[in-house]
Amino acid sequence: MSSTKNIRKTIHDSAQMLIDAYCAENMDDARLESELLYACAAEIDRVNVIADGNYNPKVKDLTKFELLLDRRINHEPLAYILGHKEFYNLDFLIGPGALIPRPETETIVDVVLNTIHEHPQFNQEVTVADIGTGSGAIAIAIGMHAPHAKIFAIDKSNEALIWAKKNIEKHKLQKQITLLHGDLLQPLNVPIDIVIANLPYIPADELQSLPKEIIKHEPDLAVNGGIDGLELYRDFSRQLPQHLSKKNNSVIVEVGAGQIIFVQEILLENLSSFNNTQIQIHRDLRKIRRVLEIRNNYLPDGQTPEGRV
Ligand SMILES: C[S@@+](CC[C@H](N)C(=O)[O-])C[C@H]1O[C@@H](n2cnc3c(N)ncnc32)[C@H](O)[C@@H]1O
Repeated sequence: MSSTKNIRKTIHDSAQMLIDAYCAENMDDARLESELLYACAAEIDRVNVIADGNYNPKVKDLTKFELLLDRRINHEPLAYILGHKEFYNLDFLIGPGALIPRPETETIVDVVLNTIHEHPQFNQEVTVADIGTGSGAIAIAIGMHAPHAKIFAIDKSNEALIWAKKNIEKHKLQKQITLLHGDLLQPLNVPIDIVIANLPYIPADELQSLPKEIIKHEPDLAVNGGIDGLELYRDFSRQLPQHLSKKNNSVIVEVGAGQIIFVQEILLENLSSFNNTQIQIHRDLRKIRRVLEIRNNYLPDGQTPEGRV
């Protein structure tokens, strides 16, 4: 048995419903979402959804599609419904309890990989800690591109760690990435060469103005940065010095638009015991100053202020 509407009309009508519910800004995005939802319901590849626009969806596929569409119209994020999200050209399993990795976060991965590959010392061996790992997206992208890096991935949320574990297994990185549960850097017991963090940085009083997809569905622990958005970075900064390697090390963090100078000040306050500090600021694809890198005891030829490594 099949429905009375062909697939092209089905996709068009559901895209219009997504626009009317303010789930998509334009028809192109809405169509893409509808096609992805239909592909998920019918268990086919998206490219095959309207390859032949004249077939009528089977009733069983249409019934499942309507359920998925309803969830989306209620502002459940597409990635949670599909169960997948692409990040850094890798496929991640994702669902409620873990922040959906964002495209702007790919910038921090580029910066970390560049820092690893650029320095002779880090080219041989390097310890990396990803603080607030969520789905494990950053740690895994680094692990895939720097197989010699020994990576620790930490989160305070047990739910997020379940997703991180699934993704580490999916990408077969169990030997390279150690998952730890706890507050910021506290679970670490070895010195770290590169500390990375994408901590919650939205000021508490701005949360209500975020899209419903975020406030209704993504974890508050992953987005709420306290009164001015910088509370987690203050705690992180206080914990940093005792966990950083005494030789050449680097602290690389993602921040919200307009926050970089404040986060720089907060971090430098606790890094005064290090020498040869270098600061670099990196912009994301939208040209927003997104990633702050602070290198300490940094000598590019592999020396440290105390002598050769
Ligand atoms: C903005 S999300 C980033 C998730 C992931 N790294 C990404 O980029 O997609 C922040 C993460 O920090 C975690 N988090 C919040 N407070 C924390 C704390 N005190 N210690 C460790 N992790 C924390 C949250 O559970 C969440 O997974």
